[in-house]
Amino acid sequence: MSGVVVCALDDLLPGAAARFVVGDRAVAVIRIGDDVYAIGDTCSHAEVSLSEGEVSTDDRSIECWKHGSRFDLTTGVPDCLPATQPVPVFVAHVVDGRVVIDVETSGGAA
Ligand code: FES
Repeated sequence: MSGVVVCALDDLLPGAAARFVVGDRAVAVIRIGDDVYAIGDTCSHAEVSLSEGEVSTDDRSIECWKHGSRFDLTTGVPDCLPATQPVPVFVAHVVDGRVVIDVETSGGAA
């Protein structure tokens, strides 16, 4: 398994997002329960950090605070305008209590 350790699972607040830079990519890492998701941190509509948006644990999405498009954490697809393009989704694992993100491989939740 490849990837980069970004933090301990316990460092992530459940139902919240945190921003990390992995390689040359800004990544929003979201914890819901013991599941971890990683998506591109920059909104596909404009240069806005998605990790500053609100996480919905019910439908596993994150809302861009600027204009309200909600991005699915497993597909990166926005549910409404103004964003029309998905953001990248990365493989996220929890290994021995540490969060590992692989920005070289597209994927979904661990
Ligand atoms: S900047 Fe994110 S929806 Fe407009």
